[in-house]
Amino acid sequence: MKQSHIEKFNKVYADPACYYGSELRPEFTIFFNNRDLSGKYALDLGCGEGRYSLYLARNKCRVTAIDGSEAGVEKLKKTANDQGLDICGRNMDVEAFVFAENRYDIIVAATILDHLADNLRAMIAEKIQDALKPGGILYANVFTADDPGFLLHHGATDLPPNTVSDTAECMEHYFKRGELITLFPDLHIRHYYEGVEPDASHGRPHFHGWACLLAQKPNHF
Ligand SMILES: C[S@@+](CC[C@H](N)C(=O)[O-])C[C@H]1O[C@@H](n2cnc3c(N)ncnc32)[C@H](O)[C@@H]1O
Repeated sequence: MKQSHIEKFNKVYADPACYYGSELRPEFTIFFNNRDLSGKYALDLGCGEGRYSLYLARNKCRVTAIDGSEAGVEKLKKTANDQGLDICGRNMDVEAFVFAENRYDIIVAATILDHLADNLRAMIAEKIQDALKPGGILYANVFTADDPGFLLHHGATDLPPNTVSDTAECMEHYFKRGELITLFPDLHIRHYYEGVEPDASHGRPHFHGWACLLAQKPNHF
């Protein structure tokens, strides 16, 4: 992760309020609400302030959460502590994380794959597939080339105000339509969504182009 991106995320997470809010993507909660998750092993990659980790820990998962931003991980640990939740938060780059094979029942990669450089993205995706237990679930979401940040990245100067996220400068790659699925060829797709939506959860109200994937490792692995 670039130092400038670490500094940007440290800065946004320094705000005592949760920068990204506590709301989770609907496809995630629709899938996991009302399931018994007790004792499941969960990994949250690029956890930030940890909204997905906190949900999983509240639902009695054993959560490991990693992020390159020290401020994000420290904030997550404090929130977990205040709420009496046990989360193993680690401040490190995903590149340095050792993924054990067939280890996790749930892996969350919420807007991190699009923050990874070209040489790292496919490698981490392969490690995610291997690290899931047979039957395990991946939830991944990314921003797509329909995101206003992509247009800005490509020199657009005529975007209406308040269309681009404050952290758009930290994006390494906007996904093409259908591209997210291609990173996980061994997984069975349980749900896939692409669309552009308004987002008032952080910074100035803006828009995002989303691709969201829920996928399962087949049991025969
Ligand atoms: C858009 S935020 C999403 C945070 C969280 N997943 C959420 O949905 O609230 C992206 C996060 O990925 C982290 N990140 C980006 N690249 C990373 C890397 N190579 N290793 C670890 N964390 C990284 C950033 O520090 C940031 O907290």
